[in-house]
Amino acid sequence: MRVEELREDDAAVRRMLVDLALDEQEHYDHPRESREELEARLRPEAGFTGENHVLVARDASGTALGLCWVVLFDPGNGLEGEVAELYVEPGARGRGIASRLVQAAMELLRRRHVTFASVWTRDDNPAALAAYRAAGFAPTRQTVLTWLPLDERDG
Ligand SMILES: CC(C)(COP(=O)(O)OP(=O)(O)OC[C@H]1O[C@@H](n2cnc3c(N)ncnc32)[C@H](O)[C@@H]1OP(=O)(O)O)[C@@H](O)C(=O)NCCC(=O)NCCS
Repeated sequence: MRVEELREDDAAVRRMLVDLALDEQEHYDHPRESREELEARLRPEAGFTGENHVLVARDASGTALGLCWVVLFDPGNGLEGEVAELYVEPGARGRGIASRLVQAAMELLRRRHVTFASVWTRDDNPAALAAYRAAGFAPTRQTVLTWLPLDERDG
C-alpha cells in the first residue's frame, strides 16, 4: 500500500466521498441530499478561495467600537464559516455590541447558505459564550478534536 496525493479526477475517489456523505447525513438532522446532488457538489480541486468579512460596529460619529471577523470558504464539500475574531473596546462592553455583531454574522451565514459554522472560545468567557449562544451556536453533538502545534517531545 502507498499513500499519495490525488493528482487528477478519479471516479472511485469521488464515489467514496459521495458514499461517505450519504452515510454520514443519516446521523444528523441536516437537510438530506440525493446521490446526484452530492455527485455534482463533491469535486475536490487542488486550490480554492475564501472570503473575509470584517463586520464593524460604529457609534454615531463613526468611531469603531467592536468587530466580528467572519471567514467563509468552500474546500469543495460545502460552504463553511468560522467566526475568527470577536472584540469590543473595553469602554464599550456590556451594552450588547458583541451580541449585535454576532447577530449580523449569523445573517451573513444564513444569507450565504453556509452548511457548517464554528467558533472557538474559552469556557471562562461568559460574555462571548452568551453572545454566541444567543445567536444560535450550541455545543455540538459532533465530536470535535483539535491539534495544536505544541512541542510533541514533551507530550
Ligand atoms: C467577549 C466580548 C466580545 C463581549 O462583548 P460585549 O459587547 O461586552 O458583549 P455584550 O454586551 O453583547 O454581551 C453579550 C452577552 O453576554 C452577557 N454578558 C456580558 N458580560 C457578561 C459577564 N461579564 N458575565 C456574564 N455574562 C455577560 C450579556 O448579558 C449578553 O448576553 P445576552 O445576549 O443573553 O443578553 C468582549 O468582552 C471582548 O471583546 N472581550 C475580549 C475579547 C474576547 O474575549 N473575544 C471573544 C473571544 S472568542
